[in-house]
Amino acid sequence: MKKTLRDVDLKGKRVLMRADFNVPLDENRNITDDSRIQAAMPSIKYILENGGKLVLMSHMGRPKGEVKSELRLDPVADRLSELLGRTVKKTDDCLGEDVEETVNAMKDGDVILLENLRFHKEETKNDPDFAKKLASLGDIFVNDAFGTCHRAHASTEGVTHYLPSVAGFLVEKEIRYFEKVTKDPDEPFCLVLGGAKVADKIPLIENMLDKIDFLLIGGAMAYTFLKSRRKGVGDSRVEDEMLDTVDNIFKKASEKNVSIFLPKDHVVAQEINENAKSKVVDEDIPDGWIGLDIGPRTVKSYESALGESKTIAWNGPMGLFEMKQFSKGTRALAEYMAKLDSTTVIGGGDTAAAVNQAGLGAKMSHMSTGGGASLEYLEGKVLPGIAALNDKE
Ligand code: 3PG
Repeated sequence: MKKTLRDVDLKGKRVLMRADFNVPLDENRNITDDSRIQAAMPSIKYILENGGKLVLMSHMGRPKGEVKSELRLDPVADRLSELLGRTVKKTDDCLGEDVEETVNAMKDGDVILLENLRFHKEETKNDPDFAKKLASLGDIFVNDAFGTCHRAHASTEGVTHYLPSVAGFLVEKEIRYFEKVTKDPDEPFCLVLGGAKVADKIPLIENMLDKIDFLLIGGAMAYTFLKSRRKGVGDSRVEDEMLDTVDNIFKKASEKNVSIFLPKDHVVAQEINENAKSKVVDEDIPDGWIGLDIGPRTVKSYESALGESKTIAWNGPMGLFEMKQFSKGTRALAEYMAKLDSTTVIGGGDTAAAVNQAGLGAKMSHMSTGGGASLEYLEGKVLPGIAALNDKE
């Protein structure tokens, strides 16, 4: 068990908190989804209410050590100011004399946001001097950046060598749900996997096969699974180099009594665009047609497995949900899951975006804020940002 914010005295302390404010922006730099900022609010409010001086830090995008004006954190500072009802000052850099002066002038209950950490290449290199300089801005380090916990960077792992280091409430909650699904799921346990590439999901499947009862496959990756079962996939995307690996998964699944569900019908089109003519086909997809979503019969069959399950983990959409006409399968499963009493854990990234788009986020037990981080957790990997935090005695 890791120490959390509740295990430290914050009064009068400079609290250096790593958050994941890597949020999507539109062309006018408006935040299009602020869930990651919202998710950090419980820790932020707790620190301020308990008399800490809060120094927030985050990355945005991948500027590779260069200052990129479009990746400055001003929109985040503005959103934080709105949510807190007071101005959150953003510094022009994440370290240096000006930053030190600003931090030294802070009073209990004040909050500032440092500029994008990745404007310095030392951040992603986990450079010890850079980490030490960041650490000098705080008396306590809090990691609440679950979405970045799979990265051993200066602001996630490096700083923990110099400061007492605890988990924020978001990281604590993410750990609780991912530990539950990876170590102690209530059974039956159903894993729903979608998304584009089979290769990206193999380590996850290998790790989870021992624990699950049902595996439901959707998204473009389903067509490689269907081809391996000798089904007609038309012109759908198939990873031929993965066919042997997929055969192996079917073998292992049958040894472990895991039922794999594949699409029985499909929404298909002859080209991939929002206005393409689409139709539903049963079983085999004819040549010239591309599978882009699961069909209504598949939805019914997947619902039967979901309805029986006590625990559900979902990673990856069932179709090309960004295009309305191929989003129905994903939406139908989200709506069905939202009505269940079982534990529902939704992986971050595209899956969370699809569930949020349907307005169903609040109906799930847990919506992860981590894309890559949630995937690595389900793969059974140790996340360096979590491992580095202090253990409870
Ligand atoms: C994410 O969006 O998944 C996290 O913020 C991590 O970003 P990264 O993949 O650029 O490290």
